[in-house]
Formats: sequence, structure tokens, C-alpha cells
Amino acid sequence: MPSYVRSGSVPHKRHIQFRRPDGGLYAEELFSTKGFESVYSLLYHLRPPTATLDVKPWSRPPVLLLPNEPLRNRHFKTGRIAGGGDAIESRAVVLGNDDILISVARAQRPMEYFYRNTGGDELLFVHRGHGEIVTQFGTLAYRENDYVVLPTGTTYRVLPSVETSFMVHESSGTVKIPRRYRNEFGQLEEHAPYYERDFRTPILGEPVEEQGEYEVRVTNRGRHAVYVVQNHPCDVVGWDGYCYPYAFNLEEFAPITGKLHQPPPAHSTFEAPGAAFCAFVPRLFDYHPLAIPVPYNHSSVDCDEVLYYVSGNFMSRRGVEAGSITLHAAGAPHGPQPGAVESSLGKASTDEVAVMVDTFKPLLLGQAALDCEDPEYYRSWIEAPAPLGA
Ligand SMILES: [Fe+2]
Repeated sequence: MPSYVRSGSVPHKRHIQFRRPDGGLYAEELFSTKGFESVYSLLYHLRPPTATLDVKPWSRPPVLLLPNEPLRNRHFKTGRIAGGGDAIESRAVVLGNDDILISVARAQRPMEYFYRNTGGDELLFVHRGHGEIVTQFGTLAYRENDYVVLPTGTTYRVLPSVETSFMVHESSGTVKIPRRYRNEFGQLEEHAPYYERDFRTPILGEPVEEQGEYEVRVTNRGRHAVYVVQNHPCDVVGWDGYCYPYAFNLEEFAPITGKLHQPPPAHSTFEAPGAAFCAFVPRLFDYHPLAIPVPYNHSSVDCDEVLYYVSGNFMSRRGVEAGSITLHAAGAPHGPQPGAVESSLGKASTDEVAVMVDTFKPLLLGQAALDCEDPEYYRSWIEAPAPLGA
């Protein structure tokens, strides 16, 4: 979505005859969002993407979410959730609400089918591992610390080269670049922490000229189906437009730093309905001679804050580990844990990597989160906590 992209062969006008070498017509497909009113692309298939041989039920287990009751700050050691299966089967829902579902997934084998979420964009964060995501727009190679945006309706397979850990955000709408980073024409402004050049788009190879029975598992906000289609989904010879998958690595993120502590919105990456995303990457700390590098105490009274700890030394948090997720619930005070302020003084930089999503509606808890919860976390701001119940 960052800007117009054209890949492969497309006719010189849209909606006109475009013929294959054998004289037959390529099948044009409009890949559009919000009906016909938002970003879209046009794809040219060897054969129509509509040839559906069968539609069968997909008995995907329902997502069960429980209220954050009693309402408190929580810590989930999601790195301890067992992996297994492919990138879809291994998704374990940790948190969610009407706007967004947040899962972790540890993919150990390639998907043997295609998957399509038509309920909203997906945003994948790659914690560990590398591999490829094959889509009808082409193939995106992924690696550690990538964000991958998959627009709603993208048909894809994840082919990990090694075991891959993802944080998965299933949005109910469009994952966008914040408006304040863009000028009136949509181009990223000079003050944005990234530039169009930083986004990687799929590499379109030769179209797969095959017919057979191809399984596409489709999901749409709790409704599911397995489509069996006759034409290989990756039979595209060209496409153009503004709507396509893309990847962005945190290495390319140029963090905004200041004389005093910069709040999370200074580190925004994306936004989606009811959700705002940020990334904390290695950076210089504040340069006021009396600056306090760690964040101040606060309560975000109107949002739930989710922080996923990726790597480095998480200096303001006690007890977290790589793969930890903390949920700072709306209105629940939090901040540096005892001793963190003093030990941060004079530090010039941090090597921490963490990604954040704030939600504006209350988050509910998945069973997978409760199963790996550190029950003592909400007491971790006490100077010398005695064990709970002592
Ligand atoms: Fe916070």
C-alpha cells in the first residue's frame, strides 16, 4: 500500500483484451478493498481464479477469549508455548477483541495448502527464523525482525527454511502507515522513521501453469471454509496497483530520539482499526544531562498496551524474557520496576528490540496466554516482593 507498484506483464490499458501466447485471454482480477473505494490492484491470471471445484467445511477450533478479570497487568511467557505444525496450525491466540486478534505461532513445517483471510489485513512480526511467503503477487522472503503486511484477501503459503516464530496480528480492517508520516500525496515525509525504499514487495516469478485440485483455506471473522480450486493460485503474469503484500525490517527503522524521553507514538510503525503499532529498536538515549532514559510511571487510561519482547536487555522490566508479552491494562499503573530508574542513569544507548500494539477496546485473554502467565507480574513493582500468599 505505500505506493504504486507494477510487476510482470500487464496490458497498456486496464479492462481490455490481453492475450496469452496461445491466443487465449488472460483473466483479469480486480483485488479491491472497501468495495471499490479504497486501494486496489489488478492481477492477470493465466486462467480464471473463479474455477471452484468444491467447497468444504474447515473445522477450525473456535477462538475462546476470557475477560481480563480481575483487571490487572499481566505477563505471559509466550516463548514457552509449544510450537508444531505450519504457520497457520501453530497459531495460539493470546489476546483479542473485536478489532484484532493477537497470536504467537511457531512454524516447524511448510504449509501444504494456501490460506486466505478475508476478514481484514494480517500483520506478521518475525521474531526468529527465515523463509518465504508465497502469494499470488509473488514471493516475499522473510527474516528475523521483519514486519510483513498481508492485505485482506491475499492467498498465501508460508514456507519456513528453519523453525520460525511469529507474532501474528489479525486486524478487522486495513493496516496503514500513520497519516502523520505522509504528505498530502501520500508520500512519506522527511520526518518519518522510514521511507518507501525500505519496503520490500513480492518478487513475481514465472506463473505456475498448472491445473489440478488446490486447497485454499479461507477464514472470515470466525467463518471458515476449504475451497478446492482448479487453477493454481500463483498463475499470475503481472499486476499493478496500490494493494499488495510487503515487508519491512526493523533494521531499516530509523528511531526518533530526543533531548528528553520520547513517548511511544514517536516510535509508531503502523495503525489499524482500534490498534496502533510501535517498534522500539536499538537507539541512543536522551541527551539532556539529567535525562532519565527509562519511561516514567503512567496509566494508559483509555487503551490496553501490549509489548512483545524480542531481544536485548529489557532494562525497565523485571523477569521478562525474549518472547514475553506484557499486557498493561487500561488504567493499571505501570512503569520502571524498582531500581530501574537509578540503574538507567548515564546510559547512552539501548540494544533492546520490542514491538508494541495498543488497543483502544479492552483486550480479552486467550487460554494459551493464561497457561503461560507469570502470576506475580502485577506485584513486580514492589520493592522486595514476598511470595504471593506468604
Ligand atoms: Fe505503558
